[in-house]
Amino acid sequence: LGEGRRDSIQRMDWQDLQTCVSACEACNLSGTRTQTVFGVGDPHADWLIVGEAPGAEEDRKGEPFVGQAGKLLDNMLAAIQLKRGDNVYIANVLKCRPPQNRDPHGEEVLQCDPFLKRQVELIQPKLILALGKFAAQSLLETDATIASLRGKLHRYQGVPVIVTYHPAYLLRNLPDKAKAWQDLCFAVRTMQDLQS
Ligand code: URA
Repeated sequence: LGEGRRDSIQRMDWQDLQTCVSACEACNLSGTRTQTVFGVGDPHADWLIVGEAPGAEEDRKGEPFVGQAGKLLDNMLAAIQLKRGDNVYIANVLKCRPPQNRDPHGEEVLQCDPFLKRQVELIQPKLILALGKFAAQSLLETDATIASLRGKLHRYQGVPVIVTYHPAYLLRNLPDKAKAWQDLCFAVRTMQDLQS
């Protein structure tokens, strides 16, 4: 990855960053996406929710988490008195949909990573909630399991990170919803501590 590209992304304001993402052709996903999915919500939010990558619906609509998993995410947020766009920003590690929703490749993450990094710098969230194994492992640069990452406070670019299950996983593994609820409560307590 060109250091020049990384440096120039690190200097962009929000508008330039959005423009840069929408025109990005740094990896092969630009050839198969319908459109990029930058993120949605309040760019000054205290909460940043990070998922994996757009799926089919997101690719069509240009907004993260608008499919089935997104409905569950909205319910999870509602359970802790949050809603999309209100003190919450939602983004993904990858801004383009991998074909057939396959797992992102290392090269794709490498190219896309500077965008999320800059989003975090500009948003300056108080807390990041990483959804699922992929987001957690790429933010925290680890191959540890969700089970071992849950319930602890991690950091990404100095910002506290809490890890929980991906809503798409929860839709297939309903009993783990109880653990996700514990994670959300942990996140709320942590936010309260950070604000006090
Ligand atoms: N899954 C994700 O990780 N992100 C989305 O935007 C949609 C589904």
